Amino acid sequence: MNQRSYEWKSKFDRIDKYLTNALRLHSGDTFDHSERVERYCNEIICCSGLNVYSPMNEPQKYIVKEVARLHDIGKIIIPSSWIDNDGPLNPFQHAWIKTHSFVGYLIVISFGYMLSRDLNFMNDMVLPIARGVLYSHETYEGKGYPRRLKGEEIPIEARIVRVADDYDASVTRKNMLDRTKALEGLKSASGTRLDPRIVQLVFDNDLFTT
Ligand SMILES: [Fe+2]
Repeated sequence: MNQRSYEWKSKFDRIDKYLTNALRLHSGDTFDHSERVERYCNEIICCSGLNVYSPMNEPQKYIVKEVARLHDIGKIIIPSSWIDNDGPLNPFQHAWIKTHSFVGYLIVISFGYMLSRDLNFMNDMVLPIARGVLYSHETYEGKGYPRRLKGEEIPIEARIVRVADDYDASVTRKNMLDRTKALEGLKSASGTRLDPRIVQLVFDNDLFTT
């Protein structure tokens, strides 16, 4: 990592601290989930370059990590009783929850600008993170939200987070599947919801063991 990347990383660490603290206060469950998603993403990016994607450099890895930590930050506008409730949601609640990726994008951009006022930093670090947050609920086959992007149109950061997010949702909360069943779920969503090459990487490297 060069000098400029170090400076930007510590600048964004400040933004991360504000936002993740707000998320923790609003919904401890969502904060814990984001930390686990970050851990799974770290496992995936450590293997990048082994057999699927070209190796990621340190700034790219940092961006993936931050997308994982902030992908649900937009949920701070959703009542925590809805988020923490495992029961079914009505159509209005469902539609409202689906706004969280766009709201998260706006939050990351606004905080990034307010705390830095640096357009280069915005361009090279804040925008890629905000874009990853915006598209982290797209699906590989193009049925996700907000824009129904497909395949490689979805930024790599968002595709990685999507796999980790799906896995964590399977092993926690109302699903509570064991690892084997959760991995079967990933396999069956490979090529539809999830990028098949990232799913393959999880299997090839025996990831998500903890
Ligand atoms: Fe999530």
